[in-house]
Amino acid sequence: MLNTQDVLNLSGKVAVVTGGASGIGLATAELLAGFGAHAVLIDINEAAGEAAAAGIRAGGGLATFRRCDVTSAADCERTAAEIAADLGGIHILFNNAGVIRRQSVTELEERDWDLVLNVSLKGVYLLSKYVIPVMERGGGGSIINTGSGWGLKGGDRAAAYCAAKAGVVNLTRAMAIDHGPAGIRVNCVSPGDTDTPLLRDEAKQLQQDEAAFLVASAGGRPLERLGTPRDIANAVLFLASDLSAWVTGSVLVVDGGGIA
Ligand SMILES: NC(=O)c1ccc[n+]([C@@H]2O[C@H](COP(=O)([O-])OP(=O)(O)OC[C@H]3O[C@@H](n4cnc5c(N)ncnc54)[C@H](O)[C@@H]3O)[C@@H](O)[C@H]2O)c1
Repeated sequence: MLNTQDVLNLSGKVAVVTGGASGIGLATAELLAGFGAHAVLIDINEAAGEAAAAGIRAGGGLATFRRCDVTSAADCERTAAEIAADLGGIHILFNNAGVIRRQSVTELEERDWDLVLNVSLKGVYLLSKYVIPVMERGGGGSIINTGSGWGLKGGDRAAAYCAAKAGVVNLTRAMAIDHGPAGIRVNCVSPGDTDTPLLRDEAKQLQQDEAAFLVASAGGRPLERLGTPRDIANAVLFLASDLSAWVTGSVLVVDGGGIA
């Protein structure tokens, strides 16, 4: 009989989660650790990251925090090398750190365009560049990149974000083609509006009432609610585990039907 524990068991695996201090990254780190992985939370927010890792350890899971700015090649190179040396390898990489600026092209300052592209798109390239060789040495792995519904369709006043997330979607496919022969699967999870600090900050950026903004964000989708960070984490668990052993180059939309 199928042992459901075995297909989702991540014991002995090292799972690196960027943006692990908050929202979707934190929920995913908790879930992957709950299924036995050693979760390595990566973030620029040291206080929240250390607290998040401590929380997972207090619950009986394996977790450590490492400060790493995913826009820095030096940080990414050093972090990948240190994790490989300390934990023996990297098997799962969740490239999830992202920022949003709710502005059109004419509203956007160049520095905000650069910030959004550097964190949300270049960061995926940079950390993958240094983690993939570690995965290759270990015989393979699973990389999951966080896209967005707005990587598949446009959205209002989010020009840099839409560009970055569309880039993440096709970067995922390119990476899947290049690294599949080494046993590395690369997939994208594309969340719809999910209740995290990032979403709530959008209300502030748009100068809208937060409660009304959240209600509006939940509406207009068949399942009539916002996503929870755990909703997205569940999809990442699937893509990280052997349940998805023949899935690569795919985009898994998790959005309550928002772009159906
Ligand atoms: N929340 C949503 O509605 C939603 C929808 C679609 C996609 N997403 C995407 O999901 C991902 C996670 O977003 P979230 O909603 O959990 O946001 P969040 O703001 O709760 O968490 C993002 C984390 O990324 C970290 N971070 C920012 N810049 C970084 C950098 N340079 N290096 C390392 N870490 C950095 C932040 O400190 C923060 O802890 C993002 O890529 C976001 O674009 C979110």
